[in-house]
Amino acid sequence: MPRNRNRFSGRTALVTGGGSGIGRTLALAFAAEGARVVVAGRTRASLDETVGLVERDGGTAFARVADVSRAADLDALVRAAVDRFGSLDVAVNNAGVLRAGRPLADVDEEDWQSMIDTNLTGVFLALRAEVRQMRTQPGGGAIVNVSSNIGVHRQIRGLTGYATSKAAVTALTRGAALEHLGDGVRINAVSPGPSETAMSLRPGESLDERALRMKEQSPLGRVSSTEEVAQAVLYLASDDAASVVGTDLVIDGGTAL
Ligand SMILES: NC(=O)c1ccc[n+]([C@@H]2O[C@H](COP(=O)([O-])OP(=O)(O)OC[C@H]3O[C@@H](n4cnc5c(N)ncnc54)[C@H](OP(=O)(O)O)[C@@H]3O)[C@@H](O)[C@H]2O)c1
Repeated sequence: MPRNRNRFSGRTALVTGGGSGIGRTLALAFAAEGARVVVAGRTRASLDETVGLVERDGGTAFARVADVSRAADLDALVRAAVDRFGSLDVAVNNAGVLRAGRPLADVDEEDWQSMIDTNLTGVFLALRAEVRQMRTQPGGGAIVNVSSNIGVHRQIRGLTGYATSKAAVTALTRGAALEHLGDGVRINAVSPGPSETAMSLRPGESLDERALRMKEQSPLGRVSSTEEVAQAVLYLASDDAASVVGTDLVIDGGTAL
């Protein structure tokens, strides 16, 4: 997608889950608009690959291994971003996991807990570390949480644990937005629907099979591209959205209608 804007020039943008999927596209999109990018996740190799792609395009990025379910990792991540680039102006809390397939009565506690730990507690811990830094900066900051249309907007059988973790991100976003706007920190969320990553594939499903399913199930007739999701995040993180606070922007081709 051609870009002729430079909305993040001189700013530092942190993307959790930046080693793959939507997070990788976010890293590339922020860098293309002038941001210095920090990507975080649990897998060093995939993060390094994202950094390589950003640098190939002429951007600046660095990778740090961090597990968002650990408070110490998030605190150290924010410190590392500030040590390297001098500030933390934008953060996208995108890391997430989906364990699917069973009705609630048959869900393992381990699967439930992993989704709560990453999708909910991970966003809380990230927000806390990010706001603590941003409120000390003259320019404040902007944060976007990546939720899902499954949760507040839509339910799917077998995804109740995932939906619960993501619905809570909406409440977390709204509450934190209210509490910290006065600190100069603007907080919003996006709720993607089926997007062009492995997460939207059913077990054993091929890309062609997913495309056929989308034709039937989605009013738009296809998955969203990661670039389409990224552009919505960039809008919310930018000064274009200076008066947008605590919103939850659904990008799902109408699947939750
Ligand atoms: N794709 C969709 O259809 C869709 C729809 C709605 C919402 N979403 C949301 O969009 C976000 C990105 O998903 P995606 O589709 O791009 O899938 P993905 O490629 O699987 O990305 C998820 C990323 O999160 C990281 N991650 C997982 N657990 C982590 C942890 N504990 N600490 C740090 N990083 C962790 C993963 O890296 P490591 O495993 O290396 O840590 C991975 O890079 C997720 O929050 C997801 O719920 C996706």
